[in-house]
This record gives sequence, C-alpha cells and structure tokens, in this order.
Amino acid sequence: PPDVLWAGRLSEKPEAEAFAFQASISVDQRLALDDIAGSRAHAAMLGKQGIIPKEAAEKLDKELAQIADELVAGKLAIDPNAEDIHSFVEGVLTQRLGDEGRMVHAGRSRNDQVAVDFRLYLKRAVPELQAELRETVSALLDQAEKHIDSVMPGYTHLQRAQPVTLGYHFCAWCAGLERDLSRFADALERLDECPLGSGALAGSGLPLDRHATAAALGFAGPTLNAMDSVADRDFTLELSSACAITMIHLSRFCEDVVIWASEEFKFINLAESWSTGSSIMPQKKNPDFAELIRGKSGRTVGNLVTLLALLKGLPYAYDKDLQEDKESLFDSLDTVRNCLRMFRGMMSTAAFSTERMEAACTGGFLEATDAAEYLVRKGLPFRKAHEAAALIVRDCIQAGQNRIADRTLAELKTRSALFEPDIYDAITPAACVKARSLKGGPAPEEVKRQIAELRERIARE
Ligand code: ARG
Repeated sequence: PPDVLWAGRLSEKPEAEAFAFQASISVDQRLALDDIAGSRAHAAMLGKQGIIPKEAAEKLDKELAQIADELVAGKLAIDPNAEDIHSFVEGVLTQRLGDEGRMVHAGRSRNDQVAVDFRLYLKRAVPELQAELRETVSALLDQAEKHIDSVMPGYTHLQRAQPVTLGYHFCAWCAGLERDLSRFADALERLDECPLGSGALAGSGLPLDRHATAAALGFAGPTLNAMDSVADRDFTLELSSACAITMIHLSRFCEDVVIWASEEFKFINLAESWSTGSSIMPQKKNPDFAELIRGKSGRTVGNLVTLLALLKGLPYAYDKDLQEDKESLFDSLDTVRNCLRMFRGMMSTAAFSTERMEAACTGGFLEATDAAEYLVRKGLPFRKAHEAAALIVRDCIQAGQNRIADRTLAELKTRSALFEPDIYDAITPAACVKARSLKGGPAPEEVKRQIAELRERIARE
C-alpha cells in the first residue's frame, strides 16, 4: 500500500487485502472536486488567520486548483491504491509542494473533511436530480394536456369504479412527484451547514474561522456542534428516504403502465424503441422499461434500510462504520436519476388508445354513483339513493344489460319514482366526469387548473 496519513503511529501496515478492505477510494473518488473545494476554503482561511504563512496558503490554493483542472482534463488519475480521496489529494499536494503540502491539514480531521465533502457533493447532485424531476413532471403534464377530455375508467381495488380522464390520472401522478421535489428541497435546506472546523469530534484549539470557510463554500453557516457534525448522518436518511419515496411513486406508475400495456387492457401503446422483444416468442412486445423501474425501486428501499441499520447503535462520535453511508446514498441517487430519465422517455413517446379507454367506461356500472347522486339532487337521502342504484345494477345484471341507460324510464321508476328522462344525459361517462368539477376533481376545466398549478409549483420549487 502507498504511504498513509497515519503512518507515524503504527510500525506495520495492514496487508494489501486488508488495506483494500478498509479503504474507500473506489467509492469516495466521486468527492474529488468537493474535497479540493473544501481544502481550498480551509487553506485560505488558515492563511488569513495566520495559522500558516500567507505564501503557503497561496501556493496551496494554486496547486489545489491545478489538481482539480488536471483531474477534470484527465491528466491526473486518481490512485486506486490510495486509502481515500482525502489521502490522495493531500498526497499529491505534498508530493508537489513538500512542507507547504503538509500544512493543509492543520485544524482538520478526515472526519469533518468527509462530512463537508459529502454535503458539498449533495448540494451539487440533488439539484440535478430535482431538475430531472421537474422535467419529468413537465413531460407528464404535456401528455395530460392532450388528454383532458380522454375519458377512461378510474379504478379502486383494480375494479372499475368511476369515470375519470387520462389527463386527470397523470395529474394524480404529478401531484406525488411535486411533493418529492419539495422533499428533496427540505432535506437540502437542513444539510446546508458547514462541518469544517469540527475536527475529529471536538473542534480545534487553533484559531480557525468557521464562518469564513462556511461562507466560502456557500453554506448558510457553520454547524452548531462539532460532535454532531462528525457523528450524525441524518441528512443521508432524509435523502435516501426521498429517493425511496420517489421510486415507490415511479414503481406504482410503472405498474399502471404494465397493466395498461396488456392485451386485456390495451390502453397504452409504448413506442417500439421503448419496448423489448422476446428471444423465443416472435410476437412479443414487452414493457421492460416499466418493469425494470418497478424492480429498481426495491434497491432504494434496501438502501434506506441499510442506512438506518448502519446508524442504529453507533456510539458518538465518529465510527468507521459511517464510511458505508456513501455507497448506499450514491446508489439511490443514481437509481432515481436513471429511472426518472427512462420513465420520461417511455411516457413522452407513448400513444394512448382513447377509444379503448372510453369503451372500458361501459360495463362495470361506473355510472352508478352518479345515478345515486342524481336521486340525492332530487331530495332522496343518500343511503336510499345508494340502495335504489344498487338494485338497478342488480336488475341490469339479471337482464344481461351492462349499462344503467339500457333500462327504460318505466323500469327505473320501479326503483325510484324520482327518475325523469334527464337521467340518461346525467350518466354518460363524459357527464359523470364533467359533473365532478370540485377543486381536485376530474372535470376538464378543473384538470386544466391543476395542470397550471402544478406547472407553477415545479417552477417555484
Ligand atoms: N473514508 C472515511 C469515511 O468515509 C473518511 C473518514 C475517515 N476517518 C477516520 N478517522 N478513519 O467516513
């Protein structure tokens, strides 16, 4: 193994396999640019506070900027045998600057360093994820706009329940995704504090300026307590939870898509480029993308449980167990990002069979609630109206009819004398939808309003 930062104390190093086991470079190399940003802020502050010579601070800053440039340009490769990204960057600095490189770690520990790196990374990565969420909502709302009048069955218990529209169904999905967006924003707000200056767990006796490093790195301010700063990872729990919740949303939407794509439903026609075939069955066109998004939701649930289990029982303050936090959260963030992109691609290219959807509103008596509400409007107590409509449904089934409108007015009147000829216009699928114009309902005008409000919210958040 290469030289380690703690070589002075121990006369022997772990064997190669053991060293690799405890190393984290394969995971935390993602934090390279954040680590460098943190070191630049720290070094500049050390110079300003007179803890290291001004010239040393300047040299450190220049060299750190140079290292970042070289990494981005691919001119400097991260050493896979380094212990972690912090050791690697400090190692390069020392190699190039000698004693000035050895000055950078004054008043700092890898414990506060990794805490600041991780938060800086998340402050970059989470807004990118939020942008993906916004674009996904926007693409779904584009589809919703096209289908404000596309009547389809709404389901409870996966049984036909009441007529809705496809535009309304998409708005339901988007309402969940919009909350996901705000969940990420909440988590970002709470993690926006800078741990630098927390040291290993007890701060530093050197005259560090924690406000200066926090401001230089764009944090709202320094963290309140140094021990908390290196010990807690509750921000990973919040973000991992936001990821899992977003994935559970996508998973349920994909389940709808898989059902809609079946021959039995045939509501959706996925683009051929967003479908896959079978190696044996020549006819197949499978909704693999929807299934895989549904499947990948499982790993984000697992990642959340991993983090909860990781933290449970850890004594304060820092423990090496905490190193396991990054792989888990990185995986959830990557999974959500990829799945949002795939879901968006699949949904914005899908075609919908509006005739099949409308036809599915006949049969199943989705208009029964509206027949009951018709009677309520005429003054009948709801429980009686419910019973009258239920008996009419039984009459229909007995007579082999699949719509309440198939009954004559005289037949309807045997169940309630309040029925008049206007009942027939009140129970078409379109009429049922149009009548539900309350805030939050499926009436076309109201769905238009929901779309506008959702667009406004995602732009604001
Ligand atoms: N790789 C470590 C982590 O991710 C960095 C902090 C290590 N600190 C230590 N004292 N070993 O948590």
